[in-house]
Amino acid sequence: MKKPLVGIVMGSTSDWEVMQHAARQLKDFGVAFEARALSAHRTPDALIEWVGAMAKGGAQCFIAGAGGAAHLAGVVAATTTLPVLGVPMPSRHLQGLDSLLSTVQMPKGIPVATFAIGQAGAGNAGLFAVALLALHDAVLAKKLHAFRARQAAAVKASRLPELS
Ligand code: RP5
Repeated sequence: MKKPLVGIVMGSTSDWEVMQHAARQLKDFGVAFEARALSAHRTPDALIEWVGAMAKGGAQCFIAGAGGAAHLAGVVAATTTLPVLGVPMPSRHLQGLDSLLSTVQMPKGIPVATFAIGQAGAGNAGLFAVALLALHDAVLAKKLHAFRARQAAAVKASRLPELS
């Protein structure tokens, strides 16, 4: 088992449906990660302990996704100097606007790099973690370039449907 380079944490198992898109990107690029459901308000001690253990074990960054009054990413960032990528969950009542604002509006001094609400944000956080790691990993950088090239080729090859 490779040591996890990225820690993925979410406030609830109900966030996994969205957060699995971050995990999918990391898996596709062959980046070792560990994913956990830990809450800033329900299990603060366990969260802080896990962040510390991950950092000690060699993690290079964290992806944190939460919904509602989403302080998870901020608490992770308060606990470590490693980069923290925040993903706002699409919440039931405010469709993620609450999650977005509470993740993105970090007071100065403790940054959280905040991504789009939901699936696109989770996937992009995974890709961003890959880009961070690729700064010091030439093989990963090559894979990232190949991914972009495949994506561009797919767009160029796409055709709009005929008018009916
Ligand atoms: C947040 O509350 C979680 O991140 C989740 O998005 C939201 C709802 O959690 P559950 O009630 O589904 O456990 O802490």
